[in-house]
Amino acid sequence: MDLLCFFLVVLLPSVLGLDFGYHSTESLENFLKTVNQNYPSITHLHSIGKSVAGRDLWVFVLGRFPTKHTIGIPEFKYVANMHGDEVVGREILLHLIEYLVTQYGQNAEIEQIINSTRIHILPSMNPDGFEAVVRPDCMFSDGRYNKNKFDLNRNFPDAFEANTVEIQPETQAVMDWVESETFVLSANLHGGAMVASFPYDNSNAAVAAKGVTPDQDVFIHLAKTYSFTANMSRSDGCDDSNRFEDGITNGYTWYPVQGGMQDYNYIWGQCFEITLELSCCKYPPENELQTFWATNRPALIEYMKQVHLGVKGQVFDIQRNPIANAIVEVVGRNHICPYRTNQNGEYYLLLLPGNYTLNVTVPGFKSITQKLELPAGHQLYSALKYDIVYPGPAFRATTSTTQIPSCPKAVSVSSTNEAALLLSTTFTLCFSATPLLMMIFSTDTLSCILSSFW
Ligand SMILES: *[C@@H]1O[C@H](CO)[C@@H](O)[C@H](O)[C@H]1NC(C)=O
Ligand SMILES: *[C@@H]1O[C@H](CO)[C@@H](O)[C@H](O)[C@H]1NC(C)=O
Ligand SMILES: *[C@@H]1O[C@H](CO)[C@@H](O)[C@H](O)[C@H]1NC(C)=O
Ligand SMILES: *[C@@H]1O[C@H](CO)[C@@H](O)[C@H](O)[C@H]1NC(C)=O
Ligand SMILES: [Zn+2]
Repeated sequence: MDLLCFFLVVLLPSVLGLDFGYHSTESLENFLKTVNQNYPSITHLHSIGKSVAGRDLWVFVLGRFPTKHTIGIPEFKYVANMHGDEVVGREILLHLIEYLVTQYGQNAEIEQIINSTRIHILPSMNPDGFEAVVRPDCMFSDGRYNKNKFDLNRNFPDAFEANTVEIQPETQAVMDWVESETFVLSANLHGGAMVASFPYDNSNAAVAAKGVTPDQDVFIHLAKTYSFTANMSRSDGCDDSNRFEDGITNGYTWYPVQGGMQDYNYIWGQCFEITLELSCCKYPPENELQTFWATNRPALIEYMKQVHLGVKGQVFDIQRNPIANAIVEVVGRNHICPYRTNQNGEYYLLLLPGNYTLNVTVPGFKSITQKLELPAGHQLYSALKYDIVYPGPAFRATTSTTQIPSCPKAVSVSSTNEAALLLSTTFTLCFSATPLLMMIFSTDTLSCILSSFW
């Protein structure tokens, strides 16, 4: 019996056999399509949009129910190669895909991760940039930018100062994608340093002194999970000016970035994202790729598991109808755009073990608070499940089933001296983003307007 099992395992065909080399857009597409065809029950492949030159932005999804969100299963994502000349992440995400599908059914840990998480992988956010690299260079090449010469990691709306750059197709595709899924945790893979960098990437004395978020403890934990597992914490850094204690840094402390993707995810997407700088050389020789995969593989896996930190659940009315757009925050951790339930009434909050007070608000109604203990050691493949019944009327008739943006996007309006225009635009957005039952001048609307000036 044991012998038979042994032979079955050994004889399993290696249908994929991805090599350690750089893959063109075409071979990347072929690879993703082949994996999807070979593993249809746990994978899904779709394009979230096109680059300036018309290349698809392919997202590979893994999970027990890969084609759609399932209540209680958190959404996770990895994005690489937004700077087209930073290529290690692009390749190791392809190897990660191969590893996950081939380990499913063989490796209990991987099976648990795939069963409990929906994992989205965008190996290249900037395929035009990747294809534009003529002579690979460790430091810099034109491939950094998209085809219109925009830096995609400076191209997102910014909460701290108006970002006037024109939003590019690749950026818009990611923004729409972030809006369309209930992402909880994410990482954005880069090269040119060895560090895990966490939000904020920008700052503004009135909002967040020195770029510190209300979730600093969680972000430090997330960044260290990666840096310690991948031995970045032991590295000497890449040069004297880029040595990081424990292999982590706050983004703003390192250097301010306006319009970065990680702040956008955290502020508007309700998704905690960190930036992983994986290699001193942005475009290393192919013969180093296998080592990069070996050192990063355990960290990529360990980081994904962190999507199960904290608490998750649904908010219901007294008739057990889920309430969409209810604000669910932890007291003392108010987000710039309050985190809200999705159309299923679901919320996900990443927290370390401890005692917390949840603050639940249906706009227009009184807030309720509930104390919660998150014990240590119960969070391997599921956050603590905690549903909330909101006292008061039934909401079925009054809440919309479509997800309402939790915060206005008017911060990218071009000029700060157009205050009147900004005010009216913002007001319209805030108002339309507010359930009809809500009082126009409630504090929520006011804070919505105020937040648009940050
Ligand atoms: C994963 O889900 C499948 C299908 O429900 C189940 O058969 C399998 O036992 C699960 N694996 C683990 C490790 O929980
Ligand atoms: C990290 O370094 C330790 C000690 O050298 C080694 O045992 C371990 O395998 C390394 N981890 C990775 C992921 O390379
Ligand atoms: C609870 O949240 C509401 C809405 O965001 C806010 O107005 C209120 O001050 C919060 N209460 C506490 C105790 O944090
Ligand atoms: C929560 O608070 C109680 C009472 O102070 C304490 O005994 C317990 O250890 C705390 N739990 C955690 C996870 O910190
Ligand atoms: Zn980069």
